[in-house]
Amino acid sequence: MARHWIATRWGAPETWEFGEFEVPAPARGEVTIRVRAAGVNPADAKHVAHPRPGAGLPVPIGYEVSGEITALGPGTRIGSGEARIGDEVVAFRVRGGYATEITVPADKVFAKPSTLSHAEAANLLLAGTTAAEMLAVTGAAPGETILLHGASGAVGVSVLQQARLRGIRVIGTAGEARADVVRGFGGIPVRHGVGLIARIRSAAGGPVVAALDAVGTDEAIDTSLELVADRRRIVTIAAPARAASDGFLAIAGSQPDSARFRDEVRAELIALAQNGDLVVPVALSLPLEAALDAQRIIATGHPGGKIALIP
Ligand SMILES: NC(=O)c1ccc[n+]([C@@H]2O[C@H](COP(=O)([O-])OP(=O)(O)OC[C@H]3O[C@@H](n4cnc5c(N)ncnc54)[C@H](OP(=O)(O)O)[C@@H]3O)[C@@H](O)[C@H]2O)c1
Repeated sequence: MARHWIATRWGAPETWEFGEFEVPAPARGEVTIRVRAAGVNPADAKHVAHPRPGAGLPVPIGYEVSGEITALGPGTRIGSGEARIGDEVVAFRVRGGYATEITVPADKVFAKPSTLSHAEAANLLLAGTTAAEMLAVTGAAPGETILLHGASGAVGVSVLQQARLRGIRVIGTAGEARADVVRGFGGIPVRHGVGLIARIRSAAGGPVVAALDAVGTDEAIDTSLELVADRRRIVTIAAPARAASDGFLAIAGSQPDSARFRDEVRAELIALAQNGDLVVPVALSLPLEAALDAQRIIATGHPGGKIALIP
């Protein structure tokens, strides 16, 4: 028997259950993975906090894992090609990653970048694909200066790295204590809080042509609207209501276009990680049993890096 975290009703993580379940043998086109690390994301809790249109209960928690293949369905290849039992892999976007073992569709499974630990690899793709889509939908281009709210967070540091590779200049907001992180990934740090707009103008020294929001506060949104003239070049991943009322972009993995883009960009991000061009700062590894502690830490908004759950 395997163990996993599951939401049997809508509500806060405290309502989740850590139960036993039978892992189904993989059918054709499926793979069973022994989970070595599960990635922890704010979405894990947000998506089960309230009833969602079209979603039913129970919901197994967790969208991404790193581990090794324990069984393959007949004639099955994975997203990155041929695979064998024992191969180290990452899987995203799966259901129920907070588990000791899972059976998942094989096209969501890729060879793990050997340069990353399981804890890092388990946290590569949700943040990474989101960051890639933020850059894509705002049309960020080499030589441009863009604004990034939440530059020290998980999505933020992935945006910074992907932007640097393309020669995009990023002004990144962060708390005072996290300025060095932003600088270390090639961004120009600016402290959020009172006086933000003036600090950004001074750091930019010219036009800011796009704004990427990974925070969702009114301060972040109002600043983007003030500084970026073209609302088609403002995107949020955390304030969809403001996007609807103020006429700019909001993206989410549940939107079909976003899901398609993010699925297509997985292999490219894995290749970047393999080459050492994309790293995943992990703040903490906790036992799988401590999933609720992990959620409490990220709910503060300042986790200081990714968290991995280790079965
Ligand atoms: N729509 C989507 O597809 C999608 C995908 C991924 C994530 N998200 C959402 O995007 C957000 C960020 O995700 P993440 O995984 O990057 O989170 P994270 O790693 O927890 O980072 C949170 C970031 O927010 C900053 N922050 C916290 N409070 C702030 C405030 N009051 N003002 C300004 N900045 C503040 C933190 O900066 P300091 O610690 O430096 O202050 C940190 O950089 C979450 O809301 C998440 O649910 C959405």
